[in-house]
Amino acid sequence: MTTAELITVAVPKGRLLEESSLLFERALGVSPRKLLEGTRKLAADAPEAGLRFISIRAADVASYVEHGAAQVGIVGLDVLREEPRDLYEPLDLGIGRCTVMVARPKDAPPLPRGVAPRVATKYLSLAARHFAAKGVPAEIIPLHGSIEVAPSLGLADAIVDITETGETLRANGLVIEEEVLQVSARLVVNRVALKLHAERLRRLIGALRAVVAPPVRKAR
Ligand code: PRP
Repeated sequence: MTTAELITVAVPKGRLLEESSLLFERALGVSPRKLLEGTRKLAADAPEAGLRFISIRAADVASYVEHGAAQVGIVGLDVLREEPRDLYEPLDLGIGRCTVMVARPKDAPPLPRGVAPRVATKYLSLAARHFAAKGVPAEIIPLHGSIEVAPSLGLADAIVDITETGETLRANGLVIEEEVLQVSARLVVNRVALKLHAERLRRLIGALRAVVAPPVRKAR
């Protein structure tokens, strides 16, 4: 197989890399993390699996796949719902589970009626839609990180952010007020590639589906 025929898979750097790599290792016997680690190269080929992996910031994976620079990618549902894309989403990978939520300082008094809460977040769209749906005229304060410190410094009354273990909230004296979105990572596929490489992509999706843990059903 020539390198031009490899299917390019965009894998996110950071917290999803390890779990994504384990899935590919179990499904196809190749680990993007092992192929990419210890090198500054941002692309690594696995010709035996017909794949090329590229290492991309989590927030950029959807752009690479939507524009066809990669045919396949792994993206958190938070990213996909914050900025909707024209992508095929065939599979919930069941990894990277976390929650987008509204948090406020523990013991904070209720806001007086009619006062627009100041909400610090990097999820500008999700937060705006959440408060609009409740009829609450929130003032959204855009931040890029360290969101949890904003209330204690008087910058915001509440935050909208992701939480996984809850450690960061606890350490900053915050408690969850409402859940906005349950998140897990999704496999995304470029729509044109799906037609051009239908059979190979169908097999790749099938191999990953076979190793994804079935969703946990809640007891009735
Ligand atoms: C996220 C989020 C919180 C933290 C929550 O940040 O913004 O700060 O994880 O995790 P916990 O509930 O397990 O404590 P991330 O590490 O993804 O980095 P970021 O701040 O750059 O977004």
